[in-house]
Amino acid sequence: MLQDKDRIFTNIYGMHDRSLKGAMARGHWDGTKDIIALGRDKIVEIMKASGLRGRGGAGFPTGLKWSFMPKESDGRPSYLVVNADESEPGTCKDREIMRNDPHTLIEGCLIASFAMQAHASYIYIRGEYIREREALQAAIDECYEAGLLGKNAAKSGWDFDLYLHHGAGAYICGEETALLESLEGRKGMPRMKPPFPAGAGLYGCPTTVNNVESIAVAPTILRRGAEWFAGFGRPNNAGTKLFAISGHVNNPCVVEEAMSIPFDELIERHCGGIRGGWDNLKAVIPGGSSVPMLPAAVMREGAIMDFDWLREQRSGLGTAAVIVMDQSTDIIKAIWRLSKFYKHESCGQCTPCREGTGWMMRVMDRLVKGEAEVSEIDMLLDVTKQVEGHTICALGDAAAWPIQGLVRHFRHEIEDRIRVKRGGTVEIAAE
Ligand code: NAI
Ligand code: SF4
Repeated sequence: MLQDKDRIFTNIYGMHDRSLKGAMARGHWDGTKDIIALGRDKIVEIMKASGLRGRGGAGFPTGLKWSFMPKESDGRPSYLVVNADESEPGTCKDREIMRNDPHTLIEGCLIASFAMQAHASYIYIRGEYIREREALQAAIDECYEAGLLGKNAAKSGWDFDLYLHHGAGAYICGEETALLESLEGRKGMPRMKPPFPAGAGLYGCPTTVNNVESIAVAPTILRRGAEWFAGFGRPNNAGTKLFAISGHVNNPCVVEEAMSIPFDELIERHCGGIRGGWDNLKAVIPGGSSVPMLPAAVMREGAIMDFDWLREQRSGLGTAAVIVMDQSTDIIKAIWRLSKFYKHESCGQCTPCREGTGWMMRVMDRLVKGEAEVSEIDMLLDVTKQVEGHTICALGDAAAWPIQGLVRHFRHEIEDRIRVKRGGTVEIAAE
């Protein structure tokens, strides 16, 4: 359980003054130049030792990612790009940082950029986040005025410019290489990896793309030490973490907690429990729409909210957007809705995703109405396997996994619906 004194985001609900003055009063921008004076190697070393894993969904170690940036310049500039295109259904944690605690992110941009020898950084913000971009731009402007950005930023000796770029509403632009394409003024279509952005990113230059939360926690880690941060959560799952809890809980919220918090504690402590009580829980999507759901039986007791435990259950922490569904949920329809979403958002560049998302959605259309043949359930699973791992970016996997989770845990509901639709005349083989 996280104590108030250990929270990094002290203003996520906007209870306090979010201006520079208010942020400084809460300890941000304190000794920034001394952190920079540690030097780039030391900063990267501390970030590695903290155990911070990327907060955008994939959980790649942040310090390691920073270390991929070239140590010596070959003449190309380096860039930090912050992925603020938060679009994963259920996910609304970065939004709270940007509108209520923007200085955590701006200070993080300066320090991280110095550590990667970048004199410029771009924050690519989701187009629909209008209030957030206004808050962030206002905070950037006051930092320029106060000398915290620009020439000799924060008197650190490092020249640094920060730009805010608005997206235009495409989910795929949250994929890091599609985001870079979009930033360069082209259609947001993912690139093949490798090369990873550290080798060839924005304008073909060394680039690190990090999530908002990953960058915003960095200054506090560097101020309070790697051991402090690593002290929360189980090994390999370190730190504090923002959870965005939505759906059938009594009090949906975004909250900072210690990583590896048990699921029941997270819900009881911050959400006032499950709507209608724990017996009413049906299923949980623990990490945003791209990870498979888990049934109540798995989540009710002993469930641990971290990367490794959820992966062992064949799901994932993803963006830590926890979507809770009670017994009133039409679980087939819920996944059908996600299939429609992924079909709509596929950029169409690679065949398994372009065609597969359409196939999956059409079979889900039939399943949700109970109009499919029973044999189509396995056919649908087969399609998900043809898509999974065979596409340029993770959107193909993200479209396949929720369906796999549905069939794994709720096949009986799909079969029942077909049986009822046919007046109970369908024989269903036992699993
Ligand atoms: P990924 O695993 O391919 O990459 C994660 C990061 O590590 C990337 O920055 C990548 O460049 C880097 N990386 C991975 N292997 C590397 C290597 N060998 N060398 C150098 N760098 C390497 O995952 P991806 O596609 O970036 O993200 C997928 C996740 O994004 C999903 O699991 C989902 O949870 C999440 N997501 C989040 C959204 C949001 O709104 N925050 C929206 C959609 C998906
Ligand atoms: Fe585009 Fe889908 Fe291929 Fe990703 S997997 S590049 S979204 S077609």
